[in-house]
Amino acid sequence: MENASVIIPISIILLSFIFLCGPSTAQPQPQPAIPPSPSPPPLAPALFVIGDSSVDSGTNNFLATFARADRLPYGRDFDTHQPTGRFSNGRIPVDFLASRLGLPFVPSYLGQRGNVEDMIHGVNYASAGAGIIVSSGSELGQHISLTQQVQQFTDTFQQLIISMGEDAAKTLISNSIVYISIGINDYIHYYLLNASNVDNLFLPWHFNRFLASSLMREIKNLYNLNVRKMVVMGLAPIGCAPRYMWEYGIQNGECVEPINDMAIEFNFLMRYIVEKLAEELPDANIIFCDVYEGSMDILKNHDQYGFNVTSEACCGSGKYKGWLMCLSPEMACSNASNYIWWDQFHPTDTVNGILAANIWNGEHAKMCYPMHLQDMVIQKAN
Ligand SMILES: *[C@@H]1O[C@H](CO)[C@@H](O)[C@H](O)[C@H]1NC(C)=O
Ligand SMILES: *[C@@H]1O[C@H](CO)[C@@H](O)[C@H](O)[C@H]1NC(C)=O
Ligand SMILES: *[C@@H]1O[C@H](CO)[C@@H](O)[C@H](O)[C@H]1NC(C)=O
Repeated sequence: MENASVIIPISIILLSFIFLCGPSTAQPQPQPAIPPSPSPPPLAPALFVIGDSSVDSGTNNFLATFARADRLPYGRDFDTHQPTGRFSNGRIPVDFLASRLGLPFVPSYLGQRGNVEDMIHGVNYASAGAGIIVSSGSELGQHISLTQQVQQFTDTFQQLIISMGEDAAKTLISNSIVYISIGINDYIHYYLLNASNVDNLFLPWHFNRFLASSLMREIKNLYNLNVRKMVVMGLAPIGCAPRYMWEYGIQNGECVEPINDMAIEFNFLMRYIVEKLAEELPDANIIFCDVYEGSMDILKNHDQYGFNVTSEACCGSGKYKGWLMCLSPEMACSNASNYIWWDQFHPTDTVNGILAANIWNGEHAKMCYPMHLQDMVIQKAN
């Protein structure tokens, strides 16, 4: 199944053509390392990030893929006002969390020079288009899949051992936070594409079980590499993403329920698995954050949060701006601050900030179980 050939939709070929021929307005920028002003000692020595475009901070700038965010308008509201590879107008959740932890923004694995100063505060391995299944997203081009990202983490660990000694490296890793946000592309670029007839072979529930147990295996691998503090993110309500609202011809702005139901089921299962793992693995602190709950809270109470555009993306083309991907500044709205969605699939930085605050301490809505990230790092500081 993992070697299945993937049917390439015509629209993606056309898009690819436009994308390749379009003028490049910006080059990938060096990773900014902006420390939070006044800097108390960090609450964790480092933050390591594994995942997909929800947390890619520049990995795909180095890959041959159409899933890249290395040109404006991406990054226009970021700290540097430059594109970095982040799939948003500004910060992604791990940027906000790095600041909460008292750490600089974490460099991408492929963007750093490989010396210890670059990786001492953490490394981001996340790659847009990546999924739990190796071939998910491969119609977009290259990406670094979950298993490969865990291998890169192993490589970082070995480099830390060489430079600081085994005991110090193990202490560093066991006190650090590993943030995992992956799985949505297994639906977007695999299951929902009907790749190799997969939905005849797998009912949604079985597909969910397959994904969840694969992710569980990688969590155990990370534990065996001395990771003790993990944040496992659930799946977002992509049935509400402009891409699917457009594709399913939604008229009234309601979300595509069958797609959201799969995310709900995956999250239900993953939360249970994380709970079991946290009991099973000695000294493990693993939390599950249900980004579906947090996102639905934002969608339902959008007025209170100051959003008045809830189903149309800021950047894109077609109904809901869901037809074409965001390719140029001319395709973007002038001010994204009233928008929930930045492009076809990704939220604005304002939404990312709200979700990060919920991960940190449940500021706007409870979505993490059995505790928040802040509880985890402060508990450990005793
Ligand atoms: C997936 O493909 C199979 C065989 O080609 C087809 O019978 C099935 O209806 C397709 N499912 C969807 C959701 O398109
Ligand atoms: C949203 O609010 C802004 C300013 O508060 C306003 O300019 C804009 O027209 C509103 N958009 C919609 C779709 O209501
Ligand atoms: C966008 O609008 C908000 C208020 O609606 C305002 O505070 C902000 O400065 C605007 N941003 C830009 C870049 O114009």
